[in-house]
Amino acid sequence: MVLFCRSAAFAVRQAASFIFTGTRRYSTNAPFKFILASKKGDKENVGLIQLNRPKALNALCDLLMREVNEALDHFEEDSQVGAVVITGSEKVFAAGADIKEMHNWTFPACYTGNFLAHWNRVCSAKKPVIAAVNGLALGGGCEMAMMCDIIYAGEKAQFGQPEILLGTIPGAGGTQRLTRAVGKSLAMEMVLTGKRLTAQEAKQAGLVSGVFPVQQLVPEAIRCGERIASNSKIITAMAKEAINAAFELPLAEGNRLEKKLFYATFATEDRKEGMTAFLEKRKASFKDK
Ligand code: CAA
Repeated sequence: MVLFCRSAAFAVRQAASFIFTGTRRYSTNAPFKFILASKKGDKENVGLIQLNRPKALNALCDLLMREVNEALDHFEEDSQVGAVVITGSEKVFAAGADIKEMHNWTFPACYTGNFLAHWNRVCSAKKPVIAAVNGLALGGGCEMAMMCDIIYAGEKAQFGQPEILLGTIPGAGGTQRLTRAVGKSLAMEMVLTGKRLTAQEAKQAGLVSGVFPVQQLVPEAIRCGERIASNSKIITAMAKEAINAAFELPLAEGNRLEKKLFYATFATEDRKEGMTAFLEKRKASFKDK
């Protein structure tokens, strides 16, 4: 296990320089302030980002989001890492955008400053990102989970978009992704009343794919990440691209894209290796090429 909050950054950089190459702010030894980042799994092939701002219930202030983006950049560049898990604490995944930070913002500042634009980094990750949600995922917290590719929930997790109670609406994709995940009626009810879903309700509604005891949640998410990371990274990225296109494209266009990506797998060594290994009755050894 390699843990690298920035206080440990220098020592880790000495031991595993590949972790830090190409990531600008890693050239400083300053630790992260609001997240912890480490590599997990038997092969250290799963990046773990833990939101760590307990006094504010992991409210997603600007710096915290920039740190998440930076850690994601780093894991994307790390060829050892095949998947990333984002989690919070047992009490709270994230209580949403930082209300203290934004309460004095004005429309011109939001509009010209592209407020929240940098929150989209999670969506543009090529590597699969798994949200492991224990406790509350509210507002931007729920939105961040929904930006991830897979959501696992702890038994006590709760999901909600309570922005209406603050006189605003979700601003980081909540109205769009929630509606696609749970359908119009439930999304409307949640966004218009602030009603929360329990983990079981979220599973039933299709928002999350697995519910686990609180203590087992992160290990289960890491295990899922390890299973993903054991496959070809390039083929995994193609599969992820194809599924995400289903949210953007009409069926015929989505099928066309899928076919092109399927054909493209035949341009990789990993496709050849996967099928050869099957025929030779052995485990495939993917090279990510
Ligand atoms: N922003 C800033 N600070 C927050 C916060 C937030 N979203 N949520 C909690 N905190 C802070 C509180 O202000 C408090 O700080 P102080 O001790 O300095 O007063 C600390 O965290 C603990 O919070 P509470 O005392 O309220 O804890 P609680 O256990 O009684 O309640 C809670 C927990 C239900 C999550 C409650 O804090 C709450 O309702 N938080 C706001 C949730 C919310 O509305 N989220 C949506 C934000 S808007 C958004 O996300 C827009 C978007 O789409 C991007």
